[in-house]
Amino acid sequence: MVRRISTKEISNFTGFEKISIPNITPSLIGKNFADYTIISGSEIFGEGKDNLNGTNGHVYLAQLTSDAKNQVIIKIIPSNIKGEDIMRECNAQNTIFEHLSSSNASASKVHKIFEDPKSNCHAIIMDVAKGSPVKTKLDEASYSKYKNQLIEVLTTALSRYDKSHFDIKPDNLIWSDEDRKLTLIDFGNSYTNNSTDLQSKIQNIGSKGFIAPILTNFQHPNYFESFAAAITLAYALFDPKDIPENISDKSNDLRNAKETELGLIGKNTQIDGKSKTNDTMVAWLEFFETVKSDSNDQFTTFQKKEALYLAGLLKRDEYINSISPATDTIMSTDELLNRIKGAQSPPRTP
Ligand SMILES: Nc1ncnc2c1ncn2[C@@H]1O[C@H](COP(=O)(O)OP(=O)(O)O)[C@@H](O)[C@H]1O
Ligand SMILES: [Mg+2]
Repeated sequence: MVRRISTKEISNFTGFEKISIPNITPSLIGKNFADYTIISGSEIFGEGKDNLNGTNGHVYLAQLTSDAKNQVIIKIIPSNIKGEDIMRECNAQNTIFEHLSSSNASASKVHKIFEDPKSNCHAIIMDVAKGSPVKTKLDEASYSKYKNQLIEVLTTALSRYDKSHFDIKPDNLIWSDEDRKLTLIDFGNSYTNNSTDLQSKIQNIGSKGFIAPILTNFQHPNYFESFAAAITLAYALFDPKDIPENISDKSNDLRNAKETELGLIGKNTQIDGKSKTNDTMVAWLEFFETVKSDSNDQFTTFQKKEALYLAGLLKRDEYINSISPATDTIMSTDELLNRIKGAQSPPRTP
């Protein structure tokens, strides 16, 4: 039974605990870190892997030195990331955690942020999310729960907090099939929509293969989210061998395109005055097209169409008329899409 904290217990971080953060090389395994001991061999990191190196830092599994059962994640962030950004990341994470307290879906609660005054490095102490990223086909019952919780975390972030996570992808969504529980992690990219500094962050947000191929100028920041969610769902619907090969390598990096040059979703995009093929879009369109020829698997066929609708590539009536889905299914998908700002209908394939 997971203990849910009350609203009162959540307070925004306004400062850091000062600590000397040990050097991560050659290895922190077995070393003490504040009240914690860094441990290895956890199943969440896989055999023989003693840390997970993300783009922004090093992630370790640790235990409270005085209580082996009390495990935490320690994310060590290098000195080039500013303290104010780390505070924003942690406060976003805890706010989402708080808003999701009555749901099965969650975010990892952050307990502490440390700062090393000498090196300017920070370390975040947070709860361990149980499970692993979903990159292979889930069974039907699990898929529905996974999808609903994914939509719930995004909708919660967007509606209760006016935030976009801006890095939705399987690696940042830890799923426990046993508990049917989804945990959103890695708020390093999350920003309040329409904030002025969003433009300056444009180069860094999102991950290749998950970046909506239009409007990276944030006129529709929430569309950025629903597109990434749709692609994430594709990974839960299909065997890896069925996913277009090297999809992320095909992704044109549209983040460098100028605002005025970004057109509507389509197979071609204007960049630097030239029409460039949008490889990601072409690959996904081709992939989703196969849905038409595979009518003997009703579930997969419908779910593909749903992902396509979520990605803004299929019109609502085509989605609904294809295989009459349950009303609550349509509602939860629509709810997310309704959050798309600007009231314009989601972009469509021309
Ligand atoms: N709270 C957590 N619980 C379980 N695993 C985690 C947690 N935080 C991070 N991880 C693991 O570490 C990896 C990198 O962490 P992440 O916060 O995504 O860093 P980055 O910003 O570098 O991508 C994740 O993909 C996940 O596998
Ligand atoms: Mg990550």
